[in-house]
Amino acid sequence: MTGTAPIRSADPAAIAAAARLLRDSGLVAFPTETVYGLGADATDGPAVARIFAAKQRPSFNPLISHLAEASAAAAFADLNPKAEKLAEAFWPGPLTLVLPRRADCAIADIASAGLDTVALRVPAHPVAHALLRETGRPVAAPSANRSGRVSPTRAEHVAAELGTQVDMILDGGPCEIGLESTVVRLNASGACLLRPGGITRAEIEGVIGQLGEFEPSAAKPTAPGQLPSHYAPAQPVRMNAMTAQPGEVLLGFGPDVPGTVNLSETGDLAEAAANLFAALHQLGNSDAQAIAVAPVPDTGLGIAINDRLRRAAAPRT
Ligand code: TXA
Ligand code: MG
Repeated sequence: MTGTAPIRSADPAAIAAAARLLRDSGLVAFPTETVYGLGADATDGPAVARIFAAKQRPSFNPLISHLAEASAAAAFADLNPKAEKLAEAFWPGPLTLVLPRRADCAIADIASAGLDTVALRVPAHPVAHALLRETGRPVAAPSANRSGRVSPTRAEHVAAELGTQVDMILDGGPCEIGLESTVVRLNASGACLLRPGGITRAEIEGVIGQLGEFEPSAAKPTAPGQLPSHYAPAQPVRMNAMTAQPGEVLLGFGPDVPGTVNLSETGDLAEAAANLFAALHQLGNSDAQAIAVAPVPDTGLGIAINDRLRRAAAPRT
C-alpha cells in the first residue's frame, strides 16, 4: 500500500478492521506492553516477507510470533517442563520463549529465518490480546522500527518510521514497560538468556533456577538479534556522562544528573525503562550533534536499559 497509514484509536471497530487486514496478508502496527510491533499473519510466508522488506531487516534475523493464549503454544513448539513453568509464571507478559519447532509447525519458515526453533510470546496488552483473538492466527511482529533504529513506544513513533509501509497503525497510547521482552532459549541442553528485557534474570531464575550462559556458535547464528549496533538514534551516543560537552544534549537519570531530558528524576528504573525510547526519539530529533547519557545502575531493569544504551552507542554497522 502507498501513502501514509491511518493511525486509528484502538476501539473495537478498529481492532476488527486490523484483524481483517492481517487475515488478508496486510501489515498492522499494534501496541504491546513492551513496544509497538509490526504484525503480519505468521502462517502467511509472503506477508511475513513484507515485514522484512518494510523494516529492511536482514533475512537471517528471526521474528517473534505472538499468541492470544498460552495454551496455543504447544501447537507450534516442543515445550519442556522449564518452558511450561516460565509460561505459567510470566504469560501473558514481556517474556519470549525460543523453543524447538514442531515438525508440523504452521508458522512460516521465514519467520524463523530458517532455524529449527520458533520464538513465542503471549503479550499482556489488552489491545494486542483482542487483536490476536480476533485474528485467530499467530502474529509475527518485530518492533515497528526500521532495522537498527530506536524502538517505538508510541503510535507516532511508528508513523514517523514506517508510516508509508504499513496498512494500519492501532493507537493504544504509550507502552507501559517500554523495553522489549526478555528472550529465553530452552532446549534439551538447558535454558539461557538471549536478550535482557522487561522481566529480569533474577525473576526468571526464581522460577527455573540458574540460567546457563549463552555461547554464540560461529557456524550458526542462533541469536541473530544480538547485533552490536542497534537502537541507534541519528547522532552518536556517549554513555556514562555526568555533563554535556559542546554540541551535546544530555539524557539525565536521577537527581544528580538532571539532563536536558530525565529518564526518572527519582532514579526509578521502571520509570526510566518506560521513558527510554521516547527520550531517544525526542533527543534524536533535536539538532544536537551527539547524545550524552548519564550512568544508569546496572541492576534489575537497569541491565536491560544498559544493554539498549550500549548498542545505541556502539559503532554503526
Ligand atoms: O517485546 C518484544 O519482544 C517486541 C514486541 C513487539 O513483542 N518484539 C521484538 O521483536 O522486540 P524484535 O524482532 O525486535 O526482537 C526479537 C528478538 C531478536 O533479537 C531476534 O533475533 C530474537 O528475538 N529471536 C527471534 N526468534 C529467534 C530464534 N528462533 N532464535 C533466536 N533468537 C530469536
Ligand atoms: Mg527490535
